[in-house]
Amino acid sequence: MDYRYAMDWVYIEDISKFIDKEVEIRGWLFNKRSGGGIKFLLIRDGTGIIQGVATENGTEPESFSLIDELNQEGSIIVKGKVREDSRAPAGYELAIHSIQVVHNQEGYPLTPKHHGVDFLLQNRHLWIRSKKQWTVLRIRAEIIKGAEDYLWERGFLKMDAPIFTPSACEGTTTLFEVDYFGEPVYLSQSGQLYNEATCMAFGKVYCFGPTFRAEKSKTRRHLTEFWMLEPEMAYAHLDDAIKLAEGMVDYVVHRVLDKRKREFETLERDTTHLESIRAPFPCIRYEEAVKRVNELGKSMEFGEDFGAPEETALAESFDSPFMVTHFPQGVKAFYMRKEPGDTGATLSFDLLAPEGYGEIIGGGEREFSVEKLKDEIKKRDLPKDAFGWYLDLRKYGSVPHSGFGLGIERMVAWICGIKHIRQTIPFPRMLGRVYP
Ligand code: 4AD
Ligand code: MG
Repeated sequence: MDYRYAMDWVYIEDISKFIDKEVEIRGWLFNKRSGGGIKFLLIRDGTGIIQGVATENGTEPESFSLIDELNQEGSIIVKGKVREDSRAPAGYELAIHSIQVVHNQEGYPLTPKHHGVDFLLQNRHLWIRSKKQWTVLRIRAEIIKGAEDYLWERGFLKMDAPIFTPSACEGTTTLFEVDYFGEPVYLSQSGQLYNEATCMAFGKVYCFGPTFRAEKSKTRRHLTEFWMLEPEMAYAHLDDAIKLAEGMVDYVVHRVLDKRKREFETLERDTTHLESIRAPFPCIRYEEAVKRVNELGKSMEFGEDFGAPEETALAESFDSPFMVTHFPQGVKAFYMRKEPGDTGATLSFDLLAPEGYGEIIGGGEREFSVEKLKDEIKKRDLPKDAFGWYLDLRKYGSVPHSGFGLGIERMVAWICGIKHIRQTIPFPRMLGRVYP
């Protein structure tokens, strides 16, 4: 049999290869209905949903009658013949011959009726089986694979960064402290500082892992645990990081649209914006962005970071992803290289998604002078000893280097058209939520 694992059952996502063949599907009952002596089962197996049709003549009598007792999310093994049928939801259906019940139960909490979001989050371990959540998380997986492939194809090596860290990368106000055998250490806010070490050893690297920020406000853009993909390149400037970032976003968007067409249909996502994306993206300096925000009727002073409403307004005023560059020192981290000529700006950039989504990537060029870096660490009152190794990178063969971090959940929210970031990760961690 032409099948990848030589298993004795098939997956719904491959069903088109089995037209007019007898197959076995192993899955769960998604929903059922009956009419005119015919019983319709929606069966899901993790890779898709197929409609099964049971009839008195075509289905083994015992199986036909047990369908009445089958409940939502009961696990079943179904045998039948695959038929092409344009009326069926996915273009195929299964003429059911027999059903074996693996586990049937009553009272699945998430019925097809409407539930409130707190209840759904409390049952997140089950909610991920529902159609929309399942669809979003499949797109998420494709986004991650696409972004990693993009980097691998360009010679980047994946170098994992540690999670327990002795120092802060992104400011000290959002650190999670952990007791490390009596010593305080912090959960990583970003793998960047370690990428800077590995890129001096391997040239082009990236890390991908969970990152942590003790965000004490509830917003639709913030999680306390989120996943970041962070490339870093030696001998690279701000422009190189920008090119890599926009190329990656362009590549990932088109690849996901291509590979996950059906998922976008399920989400009823209007993909017009996404389809028209082409790098290079518009790029404005911070000062211009501030001006624009004020013209859009929001008020913002030069020197401030964008607040949520300002970021939204700015991101609504573009219909393609865009970049804001050269943020002032005051709103960026200690490691940012200063713009030559004492402008007070840094060689930094954010990439923002349109439709009001806002920042999905932050990055820039890193300071490579040991003296300037020492000054900055002192100015910001950061613990000098914890950065000894980091300063070493500037003492031994220091070179210009640049990189960025892509927030996976922000990217998923934008691509899927999801309002709140909590639906873009299997198990969201937010202020007030660590269950399940
Ligand atoms: O802009 P950030 O803070 O940049 C860094 O951490 C750099 N050290 C990355 C680097 O240059 N290697 O975070 C990068 C991205 C943001 O653009 C955003 O997409 C995401 O991480 N992000 C969050 N996503 C969800 N919840 C949060 N609390 C987030 N904070 C940042
Ligand atoms: Mg940022």
